Amino acid sequence: MLTSARQTLRTPFARLARRLHSTANPPRVLVTGSLGQLGTTMVNTLRAKFGSENIIASDIKKPSIEQRNTGPFVYADVLNYRALEQIVVDYGIDWVVHFSAILSAAGERNPSLGLNVNITGFQNVLDLAKAHNLRLLSPSTMGAFGPTTPKDSTPDLTIMRPNTIYGITKVHMELLGEYYQEKFQVDFRSLRYPGIISADSPPGGGTTDYAVDIFHAALKHNSYESFLDAGTRLPMAYIDDCIVGTMQLLEAPQEALTQRVYNVHACDFSPQELAGEIRRQHSDAFEIAYRPDFRQAIADTWPRTMADEAARRDWGWNPVFGTADIVRVMLDKLGPVYAATASPATTAEPLVEELPAAVVAS
Ligand SMILES: NC(=O)c1ccc[n+]([C@@H]2O[C@H](COP(=O)([O-])OP(=O)(O)OC[C@H]3O[C@@H](n4cnc5c(N)ncnc54)[C@H](O)[C@@H]3O)[C@@H](O)[C@H]2O)c1
Repeated sequence: MLTSARQTLRTPFARLARRLHSTANPPRVLVTGSLGQLGTTMVNTLRAKFGSENIIASDIKKPSIEQRNTGPFVYADVLNYRALEQIVVDYGIDWVVHFSAILSAAGERNPSLGLNVNITGFQNVLDLAKAHNLRLLSPSTMGAFGPTTPKDSTPDLTIMRPNTIYGITKVHMELLGEYYQEKFQVDFRSLRYPGIISADSPPGGGTTDYAVDIFHAALKHNSYESFLDAGTRLPMAYIDDCIVGTMQLLEAPQEALTQRVYNVHACDFSPQELAGEIRRQHSDAFEIAYRPDFRQAIADTWPRTMADEAARRDWGWNPVFGTADIVRVMLDKLGPVYAATASPATTAEPLVEELPAAVVAS
């Protein structure tokens, strides 16, 4: 399992797409929130597979020149149903990948924004899917579980009483999607992601963002102050596994799906274990301190591990990156960026500037 992860450590998007099947009749896909942590890689992977012209990226932020040059990009506020509908009609959209959301920590900071984007925004894309016969993939999260959920090998079907705005809106999304599928035959699909780790795009305001920040800090200062406690074990996945899995669910035949929402688990670790692996692979001198903030209370309500047999059985979920692989690929990708900025002979800017301590995903 980990051997194949080694082979994909420097995977460009085309190779990521090759882990999936190709298709003769490509669908036209609208991706909402495409400039976020996951959207950026998802759009590149979809374009490598289905052709750039068939993937309509959208967000309310301005894309970089590079992002604009890789294919169509449109402004789309998911709170505006009519504007979304115009895009669906103008571009002949078949599938929507709905990535616009306000994540856990950001939702606790601004609950009304979280309710608005996660509930009204989802309602809009779901009604569009019903009106225009679209396939709709909208991810959920381990944050949909709560303090009374069993924490180990958390099953797909269990107690779900989250106590964050993010979690509440994601349970609402799961139930409403299932309702529309049952009542109106809307082809709704969802998967509960763990914390996602990526080097190419910064995380957007969640509780697992420490697991991205730590690499930037290690390479810059050889030290890190974690906002989660040493022993806080959470489920995690590297972005390549996340995107391959999302593509697999997106493309799975309807008949293969025995449920509409699936847990996906790749690996799990605590800040202390991650720091130990960074020490082993990067520098013995790497230091970590723990100063838990409000995100600790969120993390304390989430699973330590999730059971994902249904995803493996129904549509082939098969993550290949373990903890050591993730550390290796993050150091491989970010190391040269910080090495270049440290050299007085170069004027190159770092890919990711000092990440704001308060900003972090899941
Ligand atoms: N990243 C993770 O670790 C993680 C874990 C679990 C679940 N998820 C889920 O995956 C999906 C993508 O997450 P992400 O990490 O890329 O999030 P992100 O915060 O990085 O990106 C979300 C994007 O949504 C956009 N957005 C916000 N308001 C909008 C609006 N009104 N209209 C249109 N776009 C709007 C933002 O501009 C941003 O680009 C979300 O549904 C999230 O809940 C992510």
